[in-house]
Amino acid sequence: METERNLKTEPAALSEGAAGQKSQARQAGTGRRACPDDPVIRSLHERKSVRAFTGRKIPEEDVLAIVTAAVQAPTAGNQQLYTILRVTDQDKKHRLSLSCDNQPFIEEADLVLVFLADCLKWYRAFTEAGASPRDPGEGDLLLAVCDALIAAQNAVTAAQALGIGSCYIGDIMENREVQKEILDLPDYVFPAAMLVFGYPTDQQKTRQKPARADLSFILQENAYHVHSGEELRAMFAGRTGTRSYEDWMKAFCQRKYNSDFSREMTRSVRAYLKEYRDKEQGSDG
Ligand SMILES: Cc1cc2nc3c(=O)[nH]c(=O)nc-3n(C[C@H](O)[C@H](O)[C@H](O)COP(=O)(O)O)c2cc1C
Repeated sequence: METERNLKTEPAALSEGAAGQKSQARQAGTGRRACPDDPVIRSLHERKSVRAFTGRKIPEEDVLAIVTAAVQAPTAGNQQLYTILRVTDQDKKHRLSLSCDNQPFIEEADLVLVFLADCLKWYRAFTEAGASPRDPGEGDLLLAVCDALIAAQNAVTAAQALGIGSCYIGDIMENREVQKEILDLPDYVFPAAMLVFGYPTDQQKTRQKPARADLSFILQENAYHVHSGEELRAMFAGRTGTRSYEDWMKAFCQRKYNSDFSREMTRSVRAYLKEYRDKEQGSDG
């Protein structure tokens, strides 16, 4: 059963309803111009997260197609600053479903890929060559995270083209000590995202995709504009269901931003960062 606990869906008002549809139509302008009749763009619009799977196995050739498409993504300096870790061991999948904020659909997914931001591989390649690389720092980490996530999104798009659904699991950044143990992660290797894949159930196929904010609140020109309180209220107008802006926003803040899992993610990522900071400071000093 899909509970709020184990399925990190948006609150109902953000997920569905006429207001959301209207908002999407608004952001699409005339429709045709914002979403031209192109199969790639259409697929980007149609993709939605899938959290319940039929159990049908994904053919190995399709797994290969997904991973091969992932590595075709742009990558800083063509370095591919990532490693894609496929988790096939059912016990590990089970443990990940617990360590990633108790989301059982992780272990039910046929394909589980962890996109690791990998600052270790090049560091070791430099050392192997007799070069004298500096220790990886936070900049290297962020660049590797960019690389890993861009590759991950290619995997999502490729899977969608093959009729395979997917869902990001950001909670892989939590519980650093546990994830390191499950996946044997050394220092300088950071789990930027986990993706789970499978064929969507009928319910998931027909489920309405959560509406996006009107484009006018997302797209800015030339210089950053800090939204006023009034503008922020307008951004959520029609998206809070029967609840007031205050009620809805306070509940969302409590459920997501101030949640235990969110605080744990911050603690865990801070511990990963410390790894880089301490070493860099050590080498500076
Ligand atoms: C970085 C990131 C982390 C996410 N983590 C989770 C997660 O842990 N569990 C989950 O069910 N969905 C997760 N999602 C999926 C989002 O909830 C989903 O993309 C969002 O609600 C929009 O819905 P859509 O993907 O169907 O358009 C994550 C998405 C991203 C991009």
